[in-house]
Amino acid sequence: MNFLSKVEYKGEDNIGEKVVEALYSNKIVHFTGFDFHCDILEFYTKLSDNFPTILNAGENIEDGNATGSRWISIQYDPNYPMKYRTSKTRHPLHTDNSYVPIANNITFFFCKAFPPYGGATIFLDSATLIELLEMDNKQALLDGLKTIPVCFSKTDRNKTMPIITEDTKGLILNYNYACLDKSNTKEAVDLVEEFQDFLDNRVVMGGIATPMPLAPGEAVFFHDERLLHGRNAFFTPTPAGRDFLKGVALFDQ
Ligand SMILES: [Fe+2]
Repeated sequence: MNFLSKVEYKGEDNIGEKVVEALYSNKIVHFTGFDFHCDILEFYTKLSDNFPTILNAGENIEDGNATGSRWISIQYDPNYPMKYRTSKTRHPLHTDNSYVPIANNITFFFCKAFPPYGGATIFLDSATLIELLEMDNKQALLDGLKTIPVCFSKTDRNKTMPIITEDTKGLILNYNYACLDKSNTKEAVDLVEEFQDFLDNRVVMGGIATPMPLAPGEAVFFHDERLLHGRNAFFTPTPAGRDFLKGVALFDQ
């Protein structure tokens, strides 16, 4: 699977099929060309209907419980500065569905507004992660990531598995430091602390992750568990300055 490709919309009726097709051979698809000729929510709802199964991504901002709504807003809100989806801070590298017992999931979001400074989504390929760990002689850490089960949870949802596993299509990652369950063993907690330090201070500080700023109207679709993603901190003069809507689908492969 390639890391990244671009699909440019040129008015085709079958553009949703093209996006799904591109995701068979690419971990990330950067979607460009939407020009607000129609309502953006309607456009991306119809486009994403091409996935075999759409999951409801909505979560209540107050308590994190699933709301049953298809889209979740990722927008700066000064009333909730401590939550990543509403803060202006950087968001560390993670997978979205670390605490949701699903597999083969695609995360996608479209951009209604993008801040003047910062705010790019950042991506790190799973293969690159392994290469970086090996280059830093972190073999013991890598072994732990492949063997020690770690539980990530949020409200009543949780998932327990090693952070790095593999299937016939390649490496699978399951990781979100912010959702580390309190019941984990000391061995698992120590592993996560060391891994998070590596991600923050070696990978992100090294500028290794690929930044993807989105223009208003653009979108990105990616295989959540085949890479790590995060976000750069940003500056915006108004709360609406970075405004994304995110959805989740299962990929039939
Ligand atoms: Fe995320």
